[in-house]
Amino acid sequence: MESLLIKGGVPLCGDVTISGAKNAVLPIMAATLLTDEPCVIRRVPNLSDVKFMGQILTWLGASVKFEGDSVRVHARKIKGAGDYDLVRKMRGSICIMGPLLGRLRKAVVSLPGGCVIGARPINLHLKGMAALGAKIKIQSGYVEATAKKLSGAALFLGGRAGSTVLGTANVLMAATLAEGVTIIESAACEPEVVDLASFLNAMGAKITGAGSPTITITGVKELHGAEHTVIPDRIEAATYAIAAAATNGEITLRNARADHMHAVLDKLKDTGVKIDRAGSAITVRRNGKLQPVDITTLPYAGFPTDAQAQMMALMALTPGISIITERIFESRFMHVSELARLGADIEIEGPSAIIKGGKPLSGAPVMASDLRASAALVIAGLAARGTTQVNRVYHLDRGYENMDAKLRKLGARVERVEET
Ligand code: EPU
Repeated sequence: MESLLIKGGVPLCGDVTISGAKNAVLPIMAATLLTDEPCVIRRVPNLSDVKFMGQILTWLGASVKFEGDSVRVHARKIKGAGDYDLVRKMRGSICIMGPLLGRLRKAVVSLPGGCVIGARPINLHLKGMAALGAKIKIQSGYVEATAKKLSGAALFLGGRAGSTVLGTANVLMAATLAEGVTIIESAACEPEVVDLASFLNAMGAKITGAGSPTITITGVKELHGAEHTVIPDRIEAATYAIAAAATNGEITLRNARADHMHAVLDKLKDTGVKIDRAGSAITVRRNGKLQPVDITTLPYAGFPTDAQAQMMALMALTPGISIITERIFESRFMHVSELARLGADIEIEGPSAIIKGGKPLSGAPVMASDLRASAALVIAGLAARGTTQVNRVYHLDRGYENMDAKLRKLGARVERVEET
């Protein structure tokens, strides 16, 4: 296993080009299953999760060819069921269910179960597919959705934490090939859902309202091949923006969408960081002392849960008390005890973390537990005195393209080494 060895204390300065969004490309790749014609997706990030989704599509019978930063998928003939355990390995692969049900009227996948950030149920995905007419059976750890006919319906997808991103994606994809009109209420408004809807519309789907809580889908008989360029990764961009603030640096994010990042950029402004926008470039500059802020994670357009850990690393460096409340995933605080190993003073009370910031951080070996927790440890390591070794870096490779190379280009002293 590999680790990142970080010699901290260098302000990060320069330009970083933001890659295509992981959480947009995964459902978009799944959507290629809806047609027997070839599709080309561009600005695809080179990530282990993306490679894994490629393997799943191949397993289902599609031809998948990665070329540079594009992928060409041709799902001429596919199967919708089988004895496989794909979803358990990558939670995001649950989004193959909607397209399989839409195209083949049958989808069988293993139930994903929980993961380190929380329980992660799929009851809302199933509720949505059942509303379209699917019969759902859960047996021996697998979920099977079958339908003789899918019919449009009005359905409510709100749950305990608000909306569901991949649940909305699944129902949206299945409904494109249902008969009649489907109206999803309390749909997720995330930019990744909008990007998926744009791709589906390019394939011939009839979707309006994506990006709002009400999405309307008029079913069509079939979809055709299409080309699409994936939106920039707003969480990767947020991570580098926070790293600029944490290291007292100045970073220009290239190919970024500030309009997808209002909540994060606004909170960074509240900490005293200076933000300048010029077209698709966002420059983030630390402007002297940082101020503590309180944050609550919420569905889009609220503060994203996927940037919560990184922001906590920044607040650990900020004198004063900050409170971060996690409202999306109940146990997404795995980074707290590892940040404490670097000297951070953080207490957890229910869904909130109370950060008594401003204590100097010093390097230590730490263990990455999930993707965003790893990013938080990297940020803390970059700002800490001495050397930090972030172990289990494969978590980072799931969602950050070439992170160590990008950081080196910004002046960081980071190397990838074999874990000792
Ligand atoms: N939920 C339910 N029932 C469901 C589905 C979700 O109760 O059927 C609950 C969840 O337990 C959670 C909340 O609803 O409390 C939101 O979960 P959501 O379904 O929106 O999460 P997801 O679609 O499985 C995607 C991203 C996550 C990101 C969340 C929230 C992908 C591949 N994953 O997951 O990304 O945190 O939305 O924005 O798109 C990451 O990139 O690090 C990551 C974990």
